[in-house]
Amino acid sequence: MSITRRDLLTGAANGTRRRAGSLAHERVGAPLNILILGGTGFTGPEQVEYATARGHRVTLFNRNRTRPDLFKGRVDQLIGDLNGDVESLKGHSFDVVIDNPTTAPAWVRNAAKHLAGHTKHYLFISTLSVYPNNTVTNRDESDGLTPLPEGLDPYTVPADQARRYYGALKTESEREVARQYPGINTIVRPGLIVGPLDKSDRFTYWPVRIDRGGEVLAPGNPDDPNQIIDSRDLAEWMIRLAEQRVLGTFNAVGPVISMWELLAGIKSVTTAGAQFTWVPADFLRANGVTPWRHMPTWMPPVPNAGFSTRNNARAVAAGLTFRPLSMTAKDTLDWHKTRPAEEQKSLADGAIAGIPATKEAEVIAAWKAKPQSAP
Ligand SMILES: NC(=O)c1ccc[n+]([C@@H]2O[C@H](COP(=O)([O-])OP(=O)(O)OC[C@H]3O[C@@H](n4cnc5c(N)ncnc54)[C@H](OP(=O)(O)O)[C@@H]3O)[C@@H](O)[C@H]2O)c1
Repeated sequence: MSITRRDLLTGAANGTRRRAGSLAHERVGAPLNILILGGTGFTGPEQVEYATARGHRVTLFNRNRTRPDLFKGRVDQLIGDLNGDVESLKGHSFDVVIDNPTTAPAWVRNAAKHLAGHTKHYLFISTLSVYPNNTVTNRDESDGLTPLPEGLDPYTVPADQARRYYGALKTESEREVARQYPGINTIVRPGLIVGPLDKSDRFTYWPVRIDRGGEVLAPGNPDDPNQIIDSRDLAEWMIRLAEQRVLGTFNAVGPVISMWELLAGIKSVTTAGAQFTWVPADFLRANGVTPWRHMPTWMPPVPNAGFSTRNNARAVAAGLTFRPLSMTAKDTLDWHKTRPAEEQKSLADGAIAGIPATKEAEVIAAWKAKPQSAP
């Protein structure tokens, strides 16, 4: 991966951001009046920064709970709940609506009471989790989608069960978007989104762990596939899709790299001299180490060969670009060091993702004590 001209122009190549006005000249077409549903969590702030730097007018709609002061005074805000009161949307019109938070079709239908007919373009962040079958590599957007479980009404699923039916509800949300905004919608299906502001700790675990040095438990085979997308690459591309009014459905995920490339790439931005001990999937399983949860971003290719090998050709053809992994790793590490102490401790404890240091050391010791079978 090389640094693109865009990275150099935007300052992404050296981690600096260019101010509004310097990016505006790159924009295609007139400034847009953009409504971002959400906008203050993870990918949303990157969309806001990039869109405003390119001279667009941005309005946010959210509950005013997540980072309520982040953009106060910089962009307009409408307060409401996609799962409840959406009256503040009434009477407004936009060039494009970007829907980040929707996890159920009722949210799309609810907002459409005021937005359908009042936007020229609707851009929805879905997910690769709409695909239930991950056994085959290199599948594109025509792959089969998650069916609704029998008896489940996707419009009345209680909030506490939404997580369980995530793929099915995102699938139904896509369908609702197509019904409410026919011929003017774009569906973006990201894989694992990573980078600064990610509170899931899934990718962040690795830069933080490798930066600590010592012997690092590395999962499976070094050749196992991995596929991520930096939130800034996703966010910036979505704004460019809005500018160019690109319609259609896209897998939004980075190139397939190996686990070794991922971990070595991250190591390149650290100086602690971490060493990797690769432990096979079956030994990890037998020792209570769960893919994705304890070894984040990793899914053993048997039987999930398709999981980290989704085809991204359509998105690349539509202008999706990728910053170097080293930049993602360094920025994520730097951001993590600014997080509140309790969030840093949570990662160290493996509370959300990752493996605690004591358990990691036990598994490595057990692996080394195991009689190795003759070649
Ligand atoms: N993280 C991943 O790896 C991953 C992978 C694939 C797809 N995705 C999808 O990516 C999308 C982007 O999420 P993001 O967190 O980056 O977006 P974001 O726009 O940065 O943050 C979420 C926003 O939604 C608002 N919000 C939450 N519930 C709301 C509601 N009921 N009504 C109105 N606003 C609400 C939050 O503010 P308030 O709390 O103040 O309302 C916040 O501003 C999600 O749809 C997710 O399913 C994520």
